[in-house]
Amino acid sequence: MLKPPISRMGGKSKLRKVIIEMLPESTCYVELFFGAGWVYFGKEPSKIEVVNDVDKELINMFKMIKHHGPEMERLLKYEFSGRGIFEEYKNCTLEYLTDINRAIRFLYLINYSFASKGDHYGYGTTTLPNQKMFKETYLEPIRDRLQNTFVESLSFEEIIEKYDREHTVFFADPPYYETAGYNNEFGEKEQLILFKKLSNIKGKFLLTINDHERIRELYKDFNIKEVEVVYSVSRQTDARGKYKELIITNY
Ligand SMILES: C[S@@+](CC[C@H](N)C(=O)[O-])C[C@H]1O[C@@H](n2cnc3c(N)ncnc32)[C@H](O)[C@@H]1O
Repeated sequence: MLKPPISRMGGKSKLRKVIIEMLPESTCYVELFFGAGWVYFGKEPSKIEVVNDVDKELINMFKMIKHHGPEMERLLKYEFSGRGIFEEYKNCTLEYLTDINRAIRFLYLINYSFASKGDHYGYGTTTLPNQKMFKETYLEPIRDRLQNTFVESLSFEEIIEKYDREHTVFFADPPYYETAGYNNEFGEKEQLILFKKLSNIKGKFLLTINDHERIRELYKDFNIKEVEVVYSVSRQTDARGKYKELIITNY
């Protein structure tokens, strides 16, 4: 199974096998909240695929991998882990960078920060700095996988409106209910919009979310499967140990 080029908070690395087994066949597969894309990169390609996220820097990185992979690989060869470089990238003015440089910056901040959060320089006494950025095979399989995919950067509700058909399957992995973490707001209001939209689609959906009373109540008319996930301490400092998640489907 292909691995994404980055880690991302809430990434479905531990749960992807279960999710992939539960996804129905689809002509059109849409990931509403792409993040690192663990499920997309792990599954067999559908005829038509769409990935979407509101994080402009994340989507720019995937677009650059798709269209300018060799140039990115060339530039990455000259990077190394350094606190000064990290701080420069973190504080630079994005408007002054080319799209390719923005993508390199994004990869750098994610790969060289604590818990892949992009905010604090990650160092260690027992582990090497992240090596995967320098491997020759780093971007090519990702680019090949992205070649037949529509890469969108809109809010989830617009994507549902645009792509909803009887032959569409939506995979929704939104920010957790009542858990802060991403730059944009995703509170009760957004969860309700998501619930209303998913409840009225022509196609199918599979939603993953943290196990919360309010979510169980909202989706009580759908199929709810409870799963337990064990997160490693280093990656998910705010969700140590075992954690219950829900997989909700309308099929
Ligand atoms: C839990 S993560 C997805 C993780 C992903 N499934 C993975 O395996 O890495 C949630 C993602 O939703 C994105 N997001 C937040 N609000 C959004 C919105 N309104 N529309 C689309 N994406 C949004 C965040 O930028 C974040 O990347």
